Amino acid sequence: MAETQQALGLDIGGTGIKAAVVDVGRGELVSERVRIKTPQPSVPEEVLKICARLQKKLKWQGPVGCGFPGLIKDNVVTDAPNLDQSWVGHDIVQGLRSHLQQERIAVLNDADAAGVAEMTFGAGKGRKGTVVLITLGTGIGTAVFYDGVLLPFTELGHLEMYGKDAELSASEGARIRDGLSWKKWAAHLDHYLSRLQYLLGVDLFILGGGGSKKAHKFLPHLKTVGSKVMTAEMGNLAGIVGAAMRGAESAVVRGATGGLL
Ligand code: BGC
Repeated sequence: MAETQQALGLDIGGTGIKAAVVDVGRGELVSERVRIKTPQPSVPEEVLKICARLQKKLKWQGPVGCGFPGLIKDNVVTDAPNLDQSWVGHDIVQGLRSHLQQERIAVLNDADAAGVAEMTFGAGKGRKGTVVLITLGTGIGTAVFYDGVLLPFTELGHLEMYGKDAELSASEGARIRDGLSWKKWAAHLDHYLSRLQYLLGVDLFILGGGGSKKAHKFLPHLKTVGSKVMTAEMGNLAGIVGAAMRGAESAVVRGATGGLL
């Protein structure tokens, strides 16, 4: 029987931190999915402690991949709009290594993680051209692919719309915060997607994240880009699976150096 390759996938979000052990060859969870609320304030020390609790709960000792909701350069967080600002300047790879007692660590953007999983096992499988996965959550995350190859760390949720960050009006967080009807919110999302469509020549949008769970409520209202939109197939597991895939790669490709970025 072929050897299965497994890794722990962690998905740090603005409201919850999720984890599971993943068979990265099949893109499937081989443990339960565990979740703990993101601590408030979401400072590095407290978030990292929760990552360690989740690892312990799943009794996992092995490679770890972590999706993070922000920008990371050379292992250091440079922006994390939906977490405590003390993350900026924090070496997240080092932090995870010491809290998880694990050398084989890979960190990537949370939306990139979801995108990698959807392109390999989900809605984007085999899709050519420009595919953009959008996560609709507390903020908006984006993962841009051309012929299946990822352009990492795009931050298109911060594209300016109505004079401010697009995620302030088109994210799931904005819909809830502003008490918008599905129709009204869908108009913002439609406007946002059509801007991206124009700027990047997008062939396919894949909508994921918590906000895509009730897609039937807003898809009919996406008048401009509707024909190019699909919903993600892996739901909120995509972020965990994609992170684990990178975690497993860091073990094989980079050995103990980790910090694959
Ligand atoms: C962050 C992105 C992240 C997205 C979803 C945005 O505010 O800038 O890096 O992917 O939220 O979590």
